[in-house]
Amino acid sequence: DKEDSTCMQNNSNPLKLTESSGILYPYYFGDDPRVKLKNIKNIQSKTGDIFLCSYPKSGTHWIMEMVNMLVAGSIEHPTKFNFLDPMIISDQVLDSIPCPRIFQSHLRFNQLPASFLKRKGKIIYILRNPKDVSVSLYHFVQKEGRTKYTGKWDEFFQLFLNANVGYSSWFDHVLSWEREKEKGRHPIHFVFYEALQKDAVTELDRMSKFLSLNHPHSFLQSVAECSKFTKMRNQQYLYHPFPADVMDDNYIDYLFRKGIVGDWRTLFSEEQSMQLDEVCKAEMSDSKLAFSYE
Ligand code: A3P
Repeated sequence: DKEDSTCMQNNSNPLKLTESSGILYPYYFGDDPRVKLKNIKNIQSKTGDIFLCSYPKSGTHWIMEMVNMLVAGSIEHPTKFNFLDPMIISDQVLDSIPCPRIFQSHLRFNQLPASFLKRKGKIIYILRNPKDVSVSLYHFVQKEGRTKYTGKWDEFFQLFLNANVGYSSWFDHVLSWEREKEKGRHPIHFVFYEALQKDAVTELDRMSKFLSLNHPHSFLQSVAECSKFTKMRNQQYLYHPFPADVMDDNYIDYLFRKGIVGDWRTLFSEEQSMQLDEVCKAEMSDSKLAFSYE
């Protein structure tokens, strides 16, 4: 097992990350990420389990809200947070989640539970342009749990570009998922954050069909309306299971910060924008993915 090969505490990293097999993990993976990774790998899948996967800050909570409503067939349904990372979910908790279970994870495809992959469970992968992801992540790590990053944007930008952030390289993450999707062996559906912003109903229709739900247009319109940024931000989540050291009481402010496309312009210099474009061009030369930035 590749995950068993190496593990290293990276004390010099200002984001307090730990490395395992070449990937950096946030503090909530503990001193040895292999333990948690193995627990996740061994989770027993159930019929109908769905995974929502993403690189952090790509719109995971938004998708989660929408898919919860789609699956429940109701906009009244309370959102369930079933994050496998950062949560530590015991077998008992996992068993008590009503089916179909909807899980979230920032891991790569081959790190998902083996029985889920064997069963060919459905996966929705959400993507967002790397400039907005890096800016969103920069704001997040300043507030997040034990990370409390104090560095300046210019430093953080280099950490992001050099894959020295949690879950490592954005490019590698996105490419690895694209490769998996292209193989066509597993049901994986891609949703772009920017496309959701432009036309949520069309994207909801695609997701609904992918999940074999085929909801009518009027219901999809209600879901789009009820999952709007301001609605989600103002909603009082009754179920907030994050431990206090992962999220404090102000979590709404940084999980639902601005919710727009193009906020990268507030921090990126012209030079940084060009630098990221160049890296993107080089790293993604084999990719068919196209991102919009405005
Ligand atoms: P910003 O920090 O740019 O505002 P994740 O859920 O993967 O952690 O992603 C968080 C990002 O998604 C944040 O971006 C957050 O504001 C944005 N977001 C959350 N809910 C949203 C919604 N309903 N509509 C649009 N953006 C949303």
